[in-house]
Amino acid sequence: MKIVGKFPNVRLRRVRNSPWIRRLVSENELSINDLILPIFIRDGKNKVESIKSMPGVYRYSIDKLNLIMNKAKKYKIPMVAIFPFTQKNKKDKFGTEALNKNNLICESLKFIKKRYSGVGVMCDVALDPYTSHGHDGLLINKKIDNDKTIKILVKQALLQAEMGCDVIAPSDMMDGRVGAIRKALDQRNFKNVSILSYAAKYASSFYGPFREAVGSKKNLKSDKKTYQMDFRNSNEAFREISLDIKEGADMVMVKPGLPYLDIIKNIKDNFKIPVFAYQVSGEYSLIKNGIKNKLISDEAILESLIAFKRAGASAIVTYFALEIARKIRNFN
Ligand code: PBG
Repeated sequence: MKIVGKFPNVRLRRVRNSPWIRRLVSENELSINDLILPIFIRDGKNKVESIKSMPGVYRYSIDKLNLIMNKAKKYKIPMVAIFPFTQKNKKDKFGTEALNKNNLICESLKFIKKRYSGVGVMCDVALDPYTSHGHDGLLINKKIDNDKTIKILVKQALLQAEMGCDVIAPSDMMDGRVGAIRKALDQRNFKNVSILSYAAKYASSFYGPFREAVGSKKNLKSDKKTYQMDFRNSNEAFREISLDIKEGADMVMVKPGLPYLDIIKNIKDNFKIPVFAYQVSGEYSLIKNGIKNKLISDEAILESLIAFKRAGASAIVTYFALEIARKIRNFN
């Protein structure tokens, strides 16, 4: 592409000179349709509990889920993503609780799908909230066993589908799990349940606050580098995405968000499939604390989210979803 003309005939500031012209020439917008709201769930009754590592984010007991779901509905957030905080006594080596028909995710799915049928629900498929070692898969002889893990993940996905989950989101990074889950879903006639694969998920330091939020931080003694991606790589993300698409992913996710905009753009340019971005907990808390400490203004939230749109993301999982939705609504 060639830029024609030169100064003084061309003055690019002319298209920036007032808010109305900036609105007319703007290339990207953020809309409520782009937002996915993560929600943390805990056991007990009458609990809305703050999370130290994530200011402004709470864990809800199921009887209080209506507080946040009412807001999601009011702002027309298209989808929520639910994550369980699992008590220590429910965790074991095998992540058995993941397959309990009455676990927090199953109970929340029933609650939400009954009362908020217009809101999509996505659920992570991975064992980390449930394992005593905090890993996403089965640890056998100190190694994560890919194929044995898949067997459990398939069961976890089927259980979620049975409970009404709309979007199954494998976030475990085992090889071959998307294909296995798609096959099992189809065999059980869950043809309309879709798969959003966390296809390019990096072993990242930015997940720290989330691990506190779901209670896996203290359990995890090592890192997840044998299954999550190496942050030095981008060709590998390309391979991950191609495989997951072949195996039947309907949408793919890149995670974390801002440090990986190049990956989003690369995928968007090369595969014509919806790409979602996950602005993860560490990104959220850094921005939130920056605003709280008056280091940056709260317009940083919009700036960060528009960056995903510029890179080509179709939707963004963000802990700012409600906050930014409220702003978008008030502008209109
Ligand atoms: C679990 C999972 C993680 C996140 C989403 N699902 C953490 C991890 O892989 O350790 C991170 C989300 C965030 O940091 O906001 N597989």
